[in-house]
Amino acid sequence: MELREWAMRIFTADCLEEKLLGVEGGLKNVTDHEPGVAIPWSRPPRPAHLQIASRDKQTKFPRPNALIKPEMRIRCLHTFANHELMALELMAWALLAFPEADRVFRLGLAKILMDEQEHFRLYCERLEEMGVTFGELPVNDNFWRAAADIHTPLDWVCTMHLTFEQSNLDHAPFYSQCFRRFEDEASAMLMQRIFEDEILHVRFGSRWLTHYQPPELSEFETFESCTTRFNPPHRARGPEFQTEARRRAGLSDAFIHSLQHWTPHDQKA
Ligand SMILES: [Fe+2]
Ligand SMILES: [Fe+2]
Repeated sequence: MELREWAMRIFTADCLEEKLLGVEGGLKNVTDHEPGVAIPWSRPPRPAHLQIASRDKQTKFPRPNALIKPEMRIRCLHTFANHELMALELMAWALLAFPEADRVFRLGLAKILMDEQEHFRLYCERLEEMGVTFGELPVNDNFWRAAADIHTPLDWVCTMHLTFEQSNLDHAPFYSQCFRRFEDEASAMLMQRIFEDEILHVRFGSRWLTHYQPPELSEFETFESCTTRFNPPHRARGPEFQTEARRRAGLSDAFIHSLQHWTPHDQKA
């Protein structure tokens, strides 16, 4: 199947089955002969039960100690499942938005899209085990809100891989430990599995950051220049900063140090 056709079907799908569309035989059966013209961002369709909830209907993300209660763990996992759904929709869009990007970049995105579909499936399965179907709780549009400011592959890399996914290098192990503390081993292991994949996704980001980096800027300055009010640099960090995971993701010590110590006062005007 052509990458564009696959991505288009996922991005324009109005049901979950189609959003989880695979490619028979996997990536080796994907071709990229006709990447087509660039498609600007617009919010993808969602089935009726997965429309973005208005602010007054959205639920608060639980505090760590509240995760002793199963219903709070469900709320937490439901939020993470929605992150995966938005991630896969965004990955599909990026394939449509950047037809002229390097072929290796596009194939890497396709692989990550498949991973995000799998993560979404795994969260849905875990929720079912806990007695809930995805969509029973309200969903937000956190990641979507940043998409309108993404215009180049470099913006993309800095927003998706180096902000949202990088923050998961801190969030995933943190919540894995929380679930374990409250003896929810299945959810703890799921977070650990996602963490390992996320390292590879951030690695993709760090590789292409270096590729697109202007020679006059450092890696961190390049990253910072692509951040917006929806994804300032501190959104690339989570509750406990994981230096080693970032090294495994190919980020330099200079980048890691700058991110760890960044404060909103450092924001360029
Ligand atoms: Fe994911
Ligand atoms: Fe990811």
